Amino acid sequence: MGPVSRAPTAIEWDVREMEKGGYEHFMLKEIHEQPQALANALRGRLLENEGATKLSGLQIEPREIAAIDRIVIAACGTSYYAGMLGRYFFEDFAYVPVEVQQAAEFRYRNPIIQANTCMIAISQSGETADTLAAVREGIRKGAMVLGVCNVVGSTIAREAGRGVYLHAGPEVGVASTKAFACQVAVLAMMAVAFGRTRRLTATDGQRLVRAIARLPDLAAQTLAQEDAIRAIARKHAKATDFFYIGRGHAYPAALEGALKLKEIAYVHAEGCHAAELKHGPIALLDAAVPVIVAAPDSPEKAKTIANMQECRARKAPVVAIATAGDAEVSDCADDVITIPACPDFLAPVPIVIAEQLFAYHSARLRGCEIDQPRNLAKSVTVE
Ligand code: AGP
Repeated sequence: MGPVSRAPTAIEWDVREMEKGGYEHFMLKEIHEQPQALANALRGRLLENEGATKLSGLQIEPREIAAIDRIVIAACGTSYYAGMLGRYFFEDFAYVPVEVQQAAEFRYRNPIIQANTCMIAISQSGETADTLAAVREGIRKGAMVLGVCNVVGSTIAREAGRGVYLHAGPEVGVASTKAFACQVAVLAMMAVAFGRTRRLTATDGQRLVRAIARLPDLAAQTLAQEDAIRAIARKHAKATDFFYIGRGHAYPAALEGALKLKEIAYVHAEGCHAAELKHGPIALLDAAVPVIVAAPDSPEKAKTIANMQECRARKAPVVAIATAGDAEVSDCADDVITIPACPDFLAPVPIVIAEQLFAYHSARLRGCEIDQPRNLAKSVTVE
């Protein structure tokens, strides 16, 4: 290939955003930036009066969206867990069947892509090799490919050609934090847009849009729990194995919480569907294995409480992440981290913010590096 000449892309990130701003680590700064990052992700995109959303980067007409009969989401790591939530949103708001695939699997599975299949590639960096390979395969097979990226002009954003930017600002810490929250917000807005070309009424759309608009405030209220979260992290600073469990929308949130603890505190943590514990993993529980239970107010709460009781019967310390004031949950836990009341589809954002703070303080108490964890890179550009 000869020399490539490409017009320079101006990225509106000022240098101050690239500094720590008085925080000890970039990760802590970016955890605390989430109310502002979410406000930026939502700005100009919520049409409350119409109960709709405006995502001009999609560059698709409503009739094109209405013709989509299947969605395949491809992503890795934290972005994959955001994609799992995206599946709930598109299926619940737009009644479109969704498949979420590890991007690394996608290309080798000879994926079934039909004329009206929409592929959504989620990548904070927009440079993850596995996700880029999946995008290229999706294009080759004729899918409509949409990118959900944070870095403007990144390879995945360019090759997808259209999609939605997070506007989360630069994420310097290797561990993804504010990008996850903004990915969830963007996917929820996309699902409302898809839904409104289908059976989602203006009234239902208004209810969803008003809830999504509360995300910056939900994040701010959760951040206010940092001292309590740090104290619980200190209590379990010697534990070497954790479980993170949840059901429904809280299940991907549990998986993401386990990943955070692993990657920055170097502690073994297993994310597990709460109902799956009794099918084997419960054999690992004893007094030395704390269980972090994502138990927000939700239709699955009663079942999650039963799972908490299973854990306590095995002497495992239970840390519940519960909706503020929920005595049913707190009565079954040794410690409680409270999140603000919100619809269950949005609870993963405050839950994961609480888990980010738990992982951060666990890592800090253990003297870990945090911003540049061992063995990890901010963008995995190799397969
Ligand atoms: C997140 O904390 C991890 N650093 C990692 O799992 C990351 O989410 C994954 O590599 C995907 O990165 P991307 O979103 O930039 O594609």
